[in-house]
Amino acid sequence: MAADKTFYVTTPIYYPSGRMHIGHTYTTVAADTIARFKKLTGYRTYFLTGTDEHGQKIERSAQAAGMEPKVFIDGIVEETKQLWQLMDIQYDDFIRTTDERHIKAVQAIFTQLYNQGDIYKSEYEGQYCTPCEAFWTPTQIKEGNLCPDCGRPTELVKEESYFFRMSKYQDWLIEYIEQHPEFIQPPSRANEMLQNFLRPGLQDLSVSRTSFKWGVPVPFDPKHVIYVWIDALSNYITALGYTTEQDELMKTFWPANVQLVGKEIVRFHTIYWPILLHALGLPLPKQVFGHGWLQFGGDKMGKSKGNVVYSQPIVARYGTDALRYYLMREMPFGADGNYTNEALLTRINADLANDLGNLVSRTVAMIEKYFGGSVPSPEAYQQVDQELIDKLIALPGKVEHQMDALQFSQALQEIWRVIGECNRYIDVTQPWVLGREDGDKARLQTVLYVLAESIRFVTILISPIMTRTPERIYAQLGLKDQQLMTWESLQSFGGLKAGTLVHKGEALFPRLDIKAELDALDREETLPKAAQSAAQAEPAAQGKPVISIDDFDKLDLRIATVLSCERVEKSDKLLKFTLSLGEETRTVLSGIAAYYQPEILVGKQVVLLANLAPRKIRGIMSEGMILSAAQEGDDNALRILMPEGDIAPGAGIS
Ligand code: MSP
Repeated sequence: MAADKTFYVTTPIYYPSGRMHIGHTYTTVAADTIARFKKLTGYRTYFLTGTDEHGQKIERSAQAAGMEPKVFIDGIVEETKQLWQLMDIQYDDFIRTTDERHIKAVQAIFTQLYNQGDIYKSEYEGQYCTPCEAFWTPTQIKEGNLCPDCGRPTELVKEESYFFRMSKYQDWLIEYIEQHPEFIQPPSRANEMLQNFLRPGLQDLSVSRTSFKWGVPVPFDPKHVIYVWIDALSNYITALGYTTEQDELMKTFWPANVQLVGKEIVRFHTIYWPILLHALGLPLPKQVFGHGWLQFGGDKMGKSKGNVVYSQPIVARYGTDALRYYLMREMPFGADGNYTNEALLTRINADLANDLGNLVSRTVAMIEKYFGGSVPSPEAYQQVDQELIDKLIALPGKVEHQMDALQFSQALQEIWRVIGECNRYIDVTQPWVLGREDGDKARLQTVLYVLAESIRFVTILISPIMTRTPERIYAQLGLKDQQLMTWESLQSFGGLKAGTLVHKGEALFPRLDIKAELDALDREETLPKAAQSAAQAEPAAQGKPVISIDDFDKLDLRIATVLSCERVEKSDKLLKFTLSLGEETRTVLSGIAAYYQPEILVGKQVVLLANLAPRKIRGIMSEGMILSAAQEGDDNALRILMPEGDIAPGAGIS
């Protein structure tokens, strides 16, 4: 392997403030796919992912869970690693910003920048919200100097802070971006950075905080912690041993070939990050690619919005490869896309079960039927054979081109176009006719050989995206020779040996009954695991444990006004409520259709448990629980709790 062919790819490091969802899976599968592809094509690759563990956000999430930050994070990191295992993510390193190696290196970087005058100490002035522990700039603050988060009054305070001289590097960076059009991808994102941020002028960046503790201390002034983005961005080089004696990885793999980031963090990666690197005298990554968001219901997923899709239940039903395929196929990398169960199921049925699955099962079945399971040797190729062969020979180049541009979906389209050609080839050559008594056995040999060899081609090409299906196909083809699973083996058609014994196996992707699956997925729990097990641990109605006022405080009980109420289609139990909580509107399902006519509830006020984990029921996300009282032993007695007189919607209950 040539030493100069190296490839370094990174994902952002994820905030372990909550469980990773399908959006995080998306970025990580994309990085894994490109790493696997580069490995397949002969590169020495390095793939880094990890977690961004410092900062107030994490500190608060831990507090809310009543845990020490590190203990809280450890659980999420463990679950994240399990998720990556489930998704067959082959990372080379998983960096945590709480790793000692990282902390030391970040401190060394900060000290160097301070010593060389790029970081200086000054004062940070801004409107400060004490309950939120947050500074707000004049553009962020609400009228009357109110906090944009909680709406309470803020005060003007000065905080001592270290600053990074971003302004000094602004002209250099503009020129760099202009001269390196490949640096920021897609190009529209480069224009956005230049126009919105760089050309209007960069402010020096405050790079330390004294308002919270959960971070890397400034080594020479420990009442400051280093601002999360400086801490976080450095991970891409601290993981390679930067600032230490053991920096072989740094020498081998830096600059990164591609850094994948979601579109909302392109700014940090194409402004702060390059300036930081340049100030350290390091080259910039060759490319930062800002991909789009996987949305749900047309909106970015977010726990607070209750529209989060998790990967685990999907993998449990359809397998790792179905999800990896869907994620890489469904939307062009760079654009936003909507996750829907329908699209997932349609892809599985159309592309995987029909196109790929049938091609393999039909070919193997015919080799068994007509040649006792032994791959026949081809006779002279005819035009129809040669046309298909030419397409197969041209395919690796096309796939490589698309993969290098990170156009996974296009690469898959190219492959599936040829899979379609293979299926058409079966229809045209009609092997079942050739196999008849009066057919043409010699011709049949050629046709089935071409098909089996075509499947070998396709299988190698899908292997960076679909990690489990190739071995199942190879097993059906009876292929054991590792040499015939390599990229090099795609240079010529005809590698598969005649005489190889095929074995018909189970269908690669059984056809799904879409309607039944949609119902099943609707019933699927989208609750975070922790919340599920907490719910299971709850003792039964009788003999509930005594709780403290702190336990009660965890319940966000509020008054809500019913804006509308209707029956849920095809359900005798459910009513769907639209509730006003003052500033917010919620959809809530309640299983009380047997007790109330929906119309009479409109305009009434109810008690809502507003912080119950959202849950999808019959395809509708229910965002809370309406409280009611039920009389045991009497099926008719259920009454919704209502306030004794009118009160503003959103009013808290204590
Ligand atoms: N910790 C920072 C990144 C620091 S990198 C030095 C961060 N973390 S994050 O957990 O909020 O997001 C990590 C990545 O996940 C981002 O690139 C973000 O765009 C991506 N995604 C989170 N939700 C997503 C979708 N729904 N769809 C696609 N990507 C999504 O930002």
